[in-house]
Amino acid sequence: MNIEPREIVTHLPTNALELGSTLLVADRVTKSYGSTHVLAEASFRLRSGEVVGVVGPNGSGKSTLVRICSGHAVLDSGELRIQQRDAKLRTPRDGIAEGVCLLTQDDELFSELSVCENICAGREITVGWGLASFIQWHRCQVFAKQGLELAGNPNIDLDKPAGELSGGQRKALALARALLVRPAVLLLDEPTNSLGVAEQRWLYETIRKLSSAGLGVVIVSHSVRDIRAVTTRVVAMSEGRIVSEGETTQMTDSQIGLMMAGCES
Ligand SMILES: Nc1ncnc2c1ncn2[C@@H]1O[C@H](COP(=O)(O)OP(=O)(O)O)[C@@H](O)[C@H]1O
Ligand SMILES: [Mg+2]
Repeated sequence: MNIEPREIVTHLPTNALELGSTLLVADRVTKSYGSTHVLAEASFRLRSGEVVGVVGPNGSGKSTLVRICSGHAVLDSGELRIQQRDAKLRTPRDGIAEGVCLLTQDDELFSELSVCENICAGREITVGWGLASFIQWHRCQVFAKQGLELAGNPNIDLDKPAGELSGGQRKALALARALLVRPAVLLLDEPTNSLGVAEQRWLYETIRKLSSAGLGVVIVSHSVRDIRAVTTRVVAMSEGRIVSEGETTQMTDSQIGLMMAGCES
């Protein structure tokens, strides 16, 4: 297939997002791995323009919830609705097709490949057909640069191997890959774990811009600083259930700390 980089950006599925409209609903979602019940009828809702912090102790099901919402894991029962449509997600590709992207904790990058190759991997920027097709590297570079601009970090060297990047640069690269599909929903699983202070500030600023543009953002975090800096609402999980939630501005740091520890308020 012969696609112009700009076409790739625009033919993908994000609609104009009306601030406040419901983007994602997870309704009574359950998930078990063998005899381990990880999610027990967890229900969750995300609107356009919101940044929701998901907190709770280790093992409470936070990653599993966002993985199910992105197609990285498949629910056992319950329902997902994305932009008002029932969604049956079996793979991350299904999630992307519905406008949902997850940045996992490990960023899912190829360390040996360059920044440009990581951004373009799996995307067909080729000319010709079959054995006679080859990748058009100059167009990949334009495409990769567009992605890094969307991610608010356009100065990363496109030729550098991903394995040589700092934590923040790796996160920008993963975000660039994700944003090029124009998602409506961005799910971030503990994104600030390996970031320095300046890199955290970049991520907070980028999240604010994306939510102002109408995206719904979820940030799984163990950091009160993250929750304060970017979230509008906090949802607490414990033992596979949502046990409490509230507007961030209405909460004290110690209340947020208690939610992180799994105490119901
Ligand atoms: N792929 C898996 N296979 C088996 N058990 C899993 C898998 N993923 C998660 N679990 C288990 O599910 C529970 C919740 O995990 P997780 O969603 O990662 O929690 P959190 O992100 O809140 O720390 C943990 O007990 C974990 O061991
Ligand atoms: Mg986790």
